[in-house]
Amino acid sequence: MRWPFSFGKHSTAASWKEKLAALNSISEFYPTPLSVARQMLELAKTSPRDVVYDLGSGDGRIPILAAQEFGCRAVGIEKDDSLYCHSVGRVAELELENQVSFQRLNFFEADFRPATVVTLYLLGAVNEQLQPRLGSHLRSGARVVSLDFPVAGWNPEDVRQVRSVNEVEYTLYLYRRCPPRPPVEHPERPAAKDADQAATIQNHSCGRNA
Ligand SMILES: C[S@@+](CC[C@H](N)C(=O)[O-])C[C@H]1O[C@@H](n2cnc3c(N)ncnc32)[C@H](O)[C@@H]1O
Repeated sequence: MRWPFSFGKHSTAASWKEKLAALNSISEFYPTPLSVARQMLELAKTSPRDVVYDLGSGDGRIPILAAQEFGCRAVGIEKDDSLYCHSVGRVAELELENQVSFQRLNFFEADFRPATVVTLYLLGAVNEQLQPRLGSHLRSGARVVSLDFPVAGWNPEDVRQVRSVNEVEYTLYLYRRCPPRPPVEHPERPAAKDADQAATIQNHSCGRNA
């Protein structure tokens, strides 16, 4: 985990900075720099058709950024009361209630089946525990972008080194939920058709198994 972060173009009010400084003292809350959050959403090719879920949403910056800059709906799941209340207040200030919502929940008990993009900034051990739930909840084509900590047991589609505006380096891991493999209908079919079938399965296994 890293501490340094910078304020982006949407965080100019002094009162907002003061509130954020107080929130930073809450254990387990390490905010993603906005410039890095933006690159996470870009890596997932987030579009207005997406529904972004941030698991452990802290002060709500990723769902808010997703709505403001990518035009999509977004949900943050956060177990900490102060962070949850801060996020809800911030969304009201920005009048984003139609696009952004927060749930005060343990993400191990949350339903994130509507998600098409999931962002994570959690320890590797937590990602590992979340992996089965992500695997069962996410639909085909959903993307998971994890900051600095890979998801054990999955092969990333992409791994990128990125920098914050303060020149701190971070690693992004992109995973994609593969479509289910097509059923093999005629295992004893002629050789020429076997070759076609093998190509289809190769496309579907693709090393992208979120
Ligand atoms: C490292 S911070 C990341 C905050 C935010 N996602 C970001 O990138 O700026 C991790 C957040 O996850 C929250 N968290 C940790 N375990 C959680 C759980 N089981 N359920 C919900 N939130 C959790 C913490 O309270 C903290 O706010």
